[in-house]
Amino acid sequence: MFKLSHKKIIATSAVAAAVAFAGCLGSNPDASSSSEGSTKYVASHTYDFNGKKVIDGGVYYPVVDGKRGPYYVNEQASRIAYNKGREALPVEIKAWDVDVMYNGPFPKGHGTVGEGEEIYEEKCVACHGDFGSGAANIGIYPALSKGNAYELHETLKNQRLNPDDDGPIRVFGSYWPYPSTAWWYIKTGMPHPHPKSLTNNEVYALVAYMLSINELKVDGEVVEDEDFELNQDNFGKIEMPNVNGFIPNLNGPNGTDNIRKLLNTPHEYGAKTLADGRCMHDCLKEVKVQHITIEQKNFLPPLSEVRDLPKEENGGGAEAKAKATYEASCAMCHDSGAADAPIIGNKAQWAKYIKEGMDTVYKKGIEGVGAMPPKGGTTLSDAEFKSVVDYIVGKSK
Ligand code: HEC
Ligand code: HEC
Repeated sequence: MFKLSHKKIIATSAVAAAVAFAGCLGSNPDASSSSEGSTKYVASHTYDFNGKKVIDGGVYYPVVDGKRGPYYVNEQASRIAYNKGREALPVEIKAWDVDVMYNGPFPKGHGTVGEGEEIYEEKCVACHGDFGSGAANIGIYPALSKGNAYELHETLKNQRLNPDDDGPIRVFGSYWPYPSTAWWYIKTGMPHPHPKSLTNNEVYALVAYMLSINELKVDGEVVEDEDFELNQDNFGKIEMPNVNGFIPNLNGPNGTDNIRKLLNTPHEYGAKTLADGRCMHDCLKEVKVQHITIEQKNFLPPLSEVRDLPKEENGGGAEAKAKATYEASCAMCHDSGAADAPIIGNKAQWAKYIKEGMDTVYKKGIEGVGAMPPKGGTTLSDAEFKSVVDYIVGKSK
């Protein structure tokens, strides 16, 4: 482990983050033109500005112009060459750049519900279930519909105010504010085993099918007919029930006022006030939020210097360690009896060794005997080796 200044020594994850952030902040970390050659720094921890050792990956970048906060890129660090491939070509970036914004313009293409259903049956049903019902038994393949989206939307009402209500159902139809996300998600990520294999027309057809199984409306009409065609012109007219469900709306010139309004009406976000008349304790009195300030400068909370791992429980940790070593270094002979090694757990076989006394057993194991290489071929310390012997013998008594 080298000790370098905090500027150079950086945990790998922090470096990756720094490089990733570089793009967002518009600085230009040109790793390939490094003046420091291809030296690789492998560090498991970092130093903060006071030279104290801090947890892995904890790095602060100085606030340089009052705007760039803790993520300001440490250019010194990003000049080191990391041998992590080459720069992406513009065409490659373009291939990934399939952003579809909620307000368009939408990609060119078209597809009908019927076409979508065919593709769905072929490429999606195995994971997402009949009519998008999901694979409930597995739990990892999300449902794409649970029925009529507008009715299900009702289930999103604040449960803290109505604790007896059934849980909210958050599927595409009832929960997602915009359908453009589905278009983008399917185009970029689905079908899971072959992402990016679908044409624009196929994606339109699949989204059209998703509209039909969620009973969503386009321009006032519920999508039911299998000849219904979705395309770049009518995509913006899909009526998602939860389009205004995410509050507060931070966009636009009234963003700050919107937050203020929200914070002044605690029941909107589930807190119980005295005014609700039901509150028993810890009730919020009237709240008046006048100022919302986001402090940009001096945003340097202390980094943790604690590097403790969770405590091992009552020696159970030691046994687990011996077991792991056994499995990695001894099991290949002692599990199977290869080379006539005594088999772990076989009392009769081990009794012969144990009756010589444990000191002899340790000694022979350490020095090697017959086909048993010294310390089983490991570089364990004597004490570590003995604890693995104890483990084997313990299982074999
Ligand atoms: C091999 C299994 C598999 C196949 C086949 C598959 N998906 Fe998926 N799909 C998944 C998994 C897993 C997720 C969840 C991914 C996650 O949450 O990270 C998912 C998520 C989705 C979502 C987001 C749902 C949500 O509410 O988060 C959509 C939409 C979707 N898939 C559509 C499709 C379509 C359309 C097809 C057919 C072209 C398809 N999938 C084929 C496994 C699959
Ligand atoms: C390459 C196969 C091999 C590996 C790996 C191996 N052993 Fe052995 N071990 C043997 C054989 C064979 C014997 C029986 C030697 C004899 O009696 O001639 C033996 C015997 C022993 C004995 C009894 C020694 C005595 O004579 O009293 C102990 C204790 C032992 N092994 C522990 C271990 C431990 C602990 C490991 C892992 C760290 C390990 N062995 C890895 C093959 C192996």
